[in-house]
Amino acid sequence: MDGNNDRSVGNIMNNPKTEESILEIRNLSVARSGVKVVENVSIDVKRGEFVGLVGPNGGGKTSLLLTIVGVLKPQNGEILVFGNRPADNKNLGMVGWVPQAAANIPKHIHITVRELVSLGTLNHKNYLGKMSTYQKRRVEETIQMVGLSGVENVDVSKLSGGQLQRAVIARALASEADFLLLDEPLVGVDRGSRNSLLKLLDNLCHDFDKTIMMVSHDLTAITQTTHRIIYLEGVVQFDGPTEFLPDLNELASIRGIEHVHSNTHVVPEWVKSPERESP
Ligand SMILES: Nc1ncnc2c1ncn2[C@@H]1O[C@H](COP(=O)(O)OP(=O)(O)OP(=O)(O)O)[C@@H](O)[C@H]1O
Ligand SMILES: [Mg+2]
Repeated sequence: MDGNNDRSVGNIMNNPKTEESILEIRNLSVARSGVKVVENVSIDVKRGEFVGLVGPNGGGKTSLLLTIVGVLKPQNGEILVFGNRPADNKNLGMVGWVPQAAANIPKHIHITVRELVSLGTLNHKNYLGKMSTYQKRRVEETIQMVGLSGVENVDVSKLSGGQLQRAVIARALASEADFLLLDEPLVGVDRGSRNSLLKLLDNLCHDFDKTIMMVSHDLTAITQTTHRIIYLEGVVQFDGPTEFLPDLNELASIRGIEHVHSNTHVVPEWVKSPERESP
């Protein structure tokens, strides 16, 4: 893990580029099959922020991301992305979503890295036409941005877990997305690749002004990389600079979990299994 990232609160607050609002959520509630799974959530995210979204299984992380991209509708409250409603045409191509298990591309699908990334440039305006010179250049730039130069023509089934994850991130970025939503991108990625993937995400925020919200159960990775952590368990239990995230025992007691054995530490279930497979 790179230890040079300046994640001090002052650095975030004093940086003028962080003044631009990317995401504004006010009193949001989301229901699934009639059951409220996200309740009264208010979050503001500014440009350049790298936000970790954590919480227990079923805590509503994926539901929140799906609402931000406009797939789920709020039951109550309001969401603005780049100042617009989530599914507004003005946001076309500006939000990149890498879903849970996006890298689980069936082995029998033969597609090269360049072809996969090119898919990210398609939208309802151009999907029947040829790729423009601009789009082609964009694909090459994105491949370079995620460090996959040299394997453009390699079949994705031949990539390592870390490379494949970079490729699906590149697909999300290729539309010129400025706001990336990543749902558990670290699952199935080995330790070495995971560190360089996290470094890449950090660079995207610092050097390319991208804004990232990343869900992960890997608390170590999240705390060492993101500037800010949101702990969601239906409601927001914590939202603040990573260094102020309460101790796990403290969090457990906030959540009302009591020690089962008097001499053992309480560790939430989601922390125990950082590499678990997605459901
Ligand atoms: N399609 C669905 N229909 C009905 N309920 C759903 C659906 N998808 C999820 N849920 C429920 O919504 C709640 C929140 O689920 P969600 O997937 O958002 O949590 P999560 O924090 O992403 O969990 P995980 O860490 O396991 O991915 C859970 O109780 C889940 O069972
Ligand atoms: Mg989820």
